[in-house]
Amino acid sequence: MIRLDKFLCDMAVGSRSEVKELIKKGQVKVNGERIKKPETKIFEDQDEIYVQDQLVEYSSFVYYLFHKPQGVVTATRDNHDKTVLDYFKEAKGKDLFPVGRLDKDTEGLLLITNDGKLAHALLSPKKQVEKTYYVETKDEVTKEMEHRLCQGVDIGEDKFTLPAKTKLLSKTSLHLTITEGKFHQVKRMLKAVGTEVTYLKRISMGSLTLDPKLEKGEYRMLTEKELEALKEDTARK
Ligand code: URA
Repeated sequence: MIRLDKFLCDMAVGSRSEVKELIKKGQVKVNGERIKKPETKIFEDQDEIYVQDQLVEYSSFVYYLFHKPQGVVTATRDNHDKTVLDYFKEAKGKDLFPVGRLDKDTEGLLLITNDGKLAHALLSPKKQVEKTYYVETKDEVTKEMEHRLCQGVDIGEDKFTLPAKTKLLSKTSLHLTITEGKFHQVKRMLKAVGTEVTYLKRISMGSLTLDPKLEKGEYRMLTEKELEALKEDTARK
């Protein structure tokens, strides 16, 4: 059981003060009965809660957009290094885990959730969800290298990588978009075409982009819109 105002807050109806206001104004019904006390206890997974005649569905899933810094490992536990989940000790939601993996020296967008179904779909090779990286390289990226990356390269697996998309930003920096998630894939792709990655940052995953307002090590919840779009990204194939 939890307090009505906390439930509405958790379900992103509004801030604690906004939902208290809604309750006091009589705009919230629990099992058909208008409730005016924010502290009223409810059974979040059984009771029917309506706000302004709209059903508020209970979900224990949480979704966070995290700006992973360098020097942190993408794991739930580690004996030596700080993990991405060390940033989420105070965060709401049980059994959080990172969706996919960024290397210790890679920074950027990482989705943290407890929704296994969505995570699985986002990582499924069948869904081909695009991931875009900002890449800096040791050597100049030539037209020939770009062409090879776009065709698919031999990184020592059974098959060549799937065709990537490139956008050259300077002689030694580019945006690289891939639809797979093989171990060290971007670094291995750049190595396969004859150079080395000197800096790597993920800037998007499907429709979800790294929020420029998030400093390294900061996170925020996904908006309803972002979540819907992300689900849509996995529904396509
Ligand atoms: N590719 C890499 O090589 N490293 C990452 O962290 C992500 C993609």
